[in-house]
Amino acid sequence: MKKIIIAIDGYSSCGKSTIAKDLAKKIKYSYIDSGAMYRAVTLFCLENGLFIGDTLDEKELQNLISEIKITFHFNETTGKSDTYLNGRNVEREIRGMGVAAKVSPVAAVGFVREEMVRQQQAMGQEKGIVMDGRDIGTVVFPEAELKIFVTARPEIRAQRRMAELLAKGDKVEFDEVLENLSTRDRIDSTRKDGPLRQACDARVLDNSDMTVDEQNALVFRWFEEAAG
Ligand code: DC
Repeated sequence: MKKIIIAIDGYSSCGKSTIAKDLAKKIKYSYIDSGAMYRAVTLFCLENGLFIGDTLDEKELQNLISEIKITFHFNETTGKSDTYLNGRNVEREIRGMGVAAKVSPVAAVGFVREEMVRQQQAMGQEKGIVMDGRDIGTVVFPEAELKIFVTARPEIRAQRRMAELLAKGDKVEFDEVLENLSTRDRIDSTRKDGPLRQACDARVLDNSDMTVDEQNALVFRWFEEAAG
């Protein structure tokens, strides 16, 4: 079987990373979480005082962007890949609320996207990669052999997100979670650079009424078809 590139895009909290991780593990490909890269840049901005309140100092970030190098390394203890910012493991910090609250504006900056896309494309040079995000099938790897666009009904996504937050001990209301998801979808879909869009040659996976096993089986079948 030839090695291919698999691009998985879709809305927030629709299960992209579960699909991508499970598939990568099964077929022994590398898994790259491109959202983690935008989160790591956001952590860099926070640590270097580039936010004044909610305002990002884009000029200073532009001066520093070439110094930001993001890599992934497998963690034997957790059995998952960790995100490294300039050689430092930042996996835990990038998942916190501080980063989550500021990542959207950082991910919308054109030169940030350019640099991340450059680093992502370098990671895919050898193929054998599953990458998830918003613009992977459209901008990062428009030639990917398998593109999957994942979606689910907003109420289902909000329920899943709410379950995750409750499991972490965060007290949240359903309406608040639903509103937050639709705001993020709107920002991701309407930004100028690398907006969330379904590639015209993507296969659509609506997993609203599917179990994880059902979706994994379907995605594996698509992989076999694409890798020939
Ligand atoms: O998938 P996530 O929630 O970890 O993504 C974090 C943020 O990065 C989110 O605001 C969407 C953005 N993102 C992006 O703009 N492009 C990508 N390829 C991946 C994520």
